[in-house]
Amino acid sequence: MIATRRRGTLLMDILLEAKELTKRFGAFTAVDGISLQVKKGEVLGFLGPNGAGKSTTMKMLTGFLAPSSGSAIVCGETVTTGNVAARARIGYLPEGAPLYGDMTSRGFLAFVAAAHAIPAAEIPDVVESAAGAVHLQDVMEQRVETLSKGFKRRVGLAAAILHAPDVLILDEPTDGLDPNQKFEVRRLIEAMSVDRAIIISTHILEEVDALCHRAVIINRGHIVADGTPSELRARSRYRNAVTMLVPGENAERVASALKRIGGVAKIEAASEGNKVRLTVVPVGNADIAEAIGDIAAVSNWQVSQFSVDPGRLDDVFRQATEGDGLNGNNHNRGGEA
Ligand SMILES: Nc1ncnc2c1ncn2[C@@H]1O[C@H](COP(=O)(O)OP(=O)(O)O)[C@@H](O)[C@H]1O
Ligand SMILES: [Mg+2]
Repeated sequence: MIATRRRGTLLMDILLEAKELTKRFGAFTAVDGISLQVKKGEVLGFLGPNGAGKSTTMKMLTGFLAPSSGSAIVCGETVTTGNVAARARIGYLPEGAPLYGDMTSRGFLAFVAAAHAIPAAEIPDVVESAAGAVHLQDVMEQRVETLSKGFKRRVGLAAAILHAPDVLILDEPTDGLDPNQKFEVRRLIEAMSVDRAIIISTHILEEVDALCHRAVIINRGHIVADGTPSELRARSRYRNAVTMLVPGENAERVASALKRIGGVAKIEAASEGNKVRLTVVPVGNADIAEAIGDIAAVSNWQVSQFSVDPGRLDDVFRQATEGDGLNGNNHNRGGEA
């Protein structure tokens, strides 16, 4: 412990690390050289379209699946399928959160606690405190298969945290839940992030804003973008786009004036009742708001709702996962199989 401390806070704060993690299934490379770090207190969003390699990466991070090459490190220890000490530091919510339906919530959690080799005398308390953390108290004697999806997911979360892990690996924790249940599960995850490192996979972009300090986007087994939500958003072609609402009868006149402003890449128009919403997309994220505002002020366009776009995550996600990519390294994006 003292030795670790001497190495400084930075090293100590990194609780989860992937180093060039790679997984091949026969000739197919599902995960290809993924490296990432998650610090204490941080929630990392792991994004990508279906089949991108999220679950496979997470299975390697948890020691559930052995990598073809590369390694996963938890609290300074290399995770291997046989390293019980490293695996004990990890809480894992697998995709779909499989549970034993005919057990009660209490029975299932006690079973998981025993599987973690928690001494029998401590199990009731451990189960009670994990259940309390995710507000399961009212359904403890109910069979898991009779619970709503939201409560089932909470049972999965309780099972993931009952051995007090430092690292949580949650594979699509809100998948299949209704909006209220999603909100609830996000709140629980947020509460769990204190003093822990959490990685959550998702293909829901709002989750990144709601929950994540940082996000990594993967596509075909490769990292294609990495940053804070606002950094990622800044890479959107809509960054600094200007949106304004004008009366329908003025729209054409306004659009043709806007086209004459330097640095305008394109103008999108969408009608809203008797008004038209014009979105002016700049070339290279240039700041065009002032120039547009100056002209608007002397042109009687009757503009309402003038706003500057901070950039859009969905746009960045699409660019990164189906277009030419964002970081210019698409020459090494293999895995066309
Ligand atoms: N055991 C396996 N054998 C062969 N291919 C697999 C196996 N597991 C996953 N894959 C493939 O690896 C790719 C990544 O899968 P997965 O990690 O589940 O993606 P994601 O979780 O991002 O949707 C997919 O093409 C999937 O079909
Ligand atoms: Mg998956």
